Amino acid sequence: MPNRAWTRLTLRRPDDWHLHLRDGAMLRAVAPHSARDFGRAIIMPNLVPPVVTMAQAAAYRDRIREALPPGSRFEPLMTLYLTEATDPDDVARAYLSGTAQAVKLYPAGATTNSHAGVRDLGKVRPVLERMAEIGMTLCIHGEVVDPDVDIFDREAVFIDRVLKPLRRRVPDLRIVLEHVTTQDGVDFVRDQPRNVAATITTHHLVINRNAILAGGIRPHYYCLPVAKREAHRIALVQAAVSGDERFFLGTDSAPHLDQAKLQPCGCAGCFTAPVTLPILAEVFEAAEALDKLESFVSLNGPRYYGLPPNDDRVTLVRGEAWTAPPAILTDDGPVTVFDPGFPLHWRLEDQAAA
Ligand code: NCD
Ligand code: ZN
Repeated sequence: MPNRAWTRLTLRRPDDWHLHLRDGAMLRAVAPHSARDFGRAIIMPNLVPPVVTMAQAAAYRDRIREALPPGSRFEPLMTLYLTEATDPDDVARAYLSGTAQAVKLYPAGATTNSHAGVRDLGKVRPVLERMAEIGMTLCIHGEVVDPDVDIFDREAVFIDRVLKPLRRRVPDLRIVLEHVTTQDGVDFVRDQPRNVAATITTHHLVINRNAILAGGIRPHYYCLPVAKREAHRIALVQAAVSGDERFFLGTDSAPHLDQAKLQPCGCAGCFTAPVTLPILAEVFEAAEALDKLESFVSLNGPRYYGLPPNDDRVTLVRGEAWTAPPAILTDDGPVTVFDPGFPLHWRLEDQAAA
């Protein structure tokens, strides 16, 4: 197989279409890791308090820029956290002025800091209709919050109960179904017209639910949506390596302090930003699809958002197996870096030289 022999791979610089950078000490610690490898990222707005308005997004973007290494060209693409009180005019101004790229829908209670999210989609209909008119994208955390629905079924049930009706009501709304974790999600997106796409995370391409639960409980693999069974992981890999332009990388890198993860009720989130590109190279290599990596990480996302791909390039080099540092340090304590559970052979060229 020709891919097996590849030892260098040069790509347009990748982007991350779903990223949590947090704020304060955490922001300062994690931002350089994304800025080193990625050109742009869609920044999640689930701070406390959430980033709801255009003014809040502009202020958060300034804080992110201040946290970047000097000379960094990393571009944060901001999102607005949709609430039932969101003003359609503010959303439109934010988009048309270039301050925000997308709006984020969290069903209230679905995940970390989502309590200010949406309970009744009918209440945000004017915002969604305005977004459809101006071509602004809605990024969706696609899980129902109904406690009667099994946590492993929440994405599939969301698609039937919420997403399909929403598509019928506002068909022109551009939608990214984020961090898709199931065959159901992949099938849904494939059946939709081109204004619907999906992001896939690093970790969901690598782990299934056994990683969290088999042989002991492993909080560092717990994230939302929770990883599903192996057949779903395989469906995600097939979508990612297919070259289908509706699927692209959104790492959902979601750092939490170890002291917040290692609790009787620990936080959801995997911190993957520092190791995403080496891990994805392994995944695509194993699938004999290294020639599709650039589409997934660097081309499909910008195409969906109507942006040019990055003009610079990164080179991945295959060499001796290495293991990533297990954690990074913040002023408030360590954050464990996602461990894929297999050795890595690929590195970015400048790291390989170090
Ligand atoms: C995210 C977080 O920690 O902010 N956690 C996660 O497990 N992915 C929230 C989210 O994207 O669901
Ligand atoms: Zn997320």
